[in-house]
Amino acid sequence: MVWPKKNLFVVPGQTGAIEDAAQRLAQGHLVAFPTETVYGLGADGLSPAAVMRIFQAKGRPADHPVILHVGDVGHARTLAAHWPDLAQRLAEIFWPGPLTVILPRAAHVPELVCGGQDTVGIRMPAHPVARELLIAFGRIGSGVIAAPSANRFGAVSPTCAAHVIQGLASWLGPQDLILDGGQCDIGVESTIVDLSTGSPRVLRPGGISRRHLAEALGVAEASLLAAPKQAAIPRVSGALESHYAPRADARLVAHDDLFRTIQDLRSDSPNAVIICLTCSTLEHPLPGTEVWPMPQQPEQYARILYACLHDADLKKADLLVIEQPPDDVVWEAVRDRLQRACASRH
Ligand code: TXA
Ligand code: MG
Repeated sequence: MVWPKKNLFVVPGQTGAIEDAAQRLAQGHLVAFPTETVYGLGADGLSPAAVMRIFQAKGRPADHPVILHVGDVGHARTLAAHWPDLAQRLAEIFWPGPLTVILPRAAHVPELVCGGQDTVGIRMPAHPVARELLIAFGRIGSGVIAAPSANRFGAVSPTCAAHVIQGLASWLGPQDLILDGGQCDIGVESTIVDLSTGSPRVLRPGGISRRHLAEALGVAEASLLAAPKQAAIPRVSGALESHYAPRADARLVAHDDLFRTIQDLRSDSPNAVIICLTCSTLEHPLPGTEVWPMPQQPEQYARILYACLHDADLKKADLLVIEQPPDDVVWEAVRDRLQRACASRH
């Protein structure tokens, strides 16, 4: 792979790499870094000018808020106008980890971070590189890193450094940096829970399932479902109907319709891929069609989902026919991302 700014591509094991990255954040530059969910594109979360650079690099509309990442609960508390018991409870159970809480914002949190709203999204990531970076940045700067996923707006999120390079390198500046921390373990974004209203609601399904959250909180799973209006955009950019989208025409279909869909659409799309869960029943597909079997467990499926969508782009697939996963709450995050990948962009 050609990486145009080789000197800016750093493996954290290298001496001084994390300190260098923290310095760059303190100087207002961008640092793409691994988290356990997806790679983030980080900037000093309390500097409006630095956060503005994220929006420019991503091509992201200014009314889409970004999540603030912290290394400890102390930093998290300073970002919220109130820190309710429920936030403390969720932090104790799920942090560090793939959970973002939405709370009323503290006055000093830049408006751009919150997309002009009166709330702020906060998360403590678990990836060791993210944690080291947050600690190092806390020593010399604010210790708060604003970071959306490190991809152009609307594109598939990155789950390894190569994805960041492919999707974003040409939009980064000469002083920006990409930290390579290997493949993300979870593979889909954090679960976003809104704590800013009367009762907790999941705005975006993610790394922690609604079932797991409901168990931890001792509430019914259904009580955590957001009302359709509440989950609507632009509050949550990941909730845009077409998002996480590969370049190919992507279709989500029941298992029994996989083969028929390929047959119907293939003449317009000679380079097709079937992404399936139960592939053994698929007879030999038509020439030019690849079959990619996926893991049967939702966690394992989620881990490789975005890599599959990136690979489909790389092989210039023009048609993706994807088997609908089971209709169970533990598949919610995967189903959500597949639906968005397949949503019409027209
Ligand atoms: O796992 C993740 O959450 C990753 C990693 C890098 O931490 N980040 C991520 O960021 O997915 P992003 O910007 O791609 O998605 C963040 C989502 C957006 O949909 C945004 O609208 C929503 O969080 N969000 C942030 N602050 C919010 C707020 N105050 N109210 C409602 N939604 C908010
Ligand atoms: Mg994103």
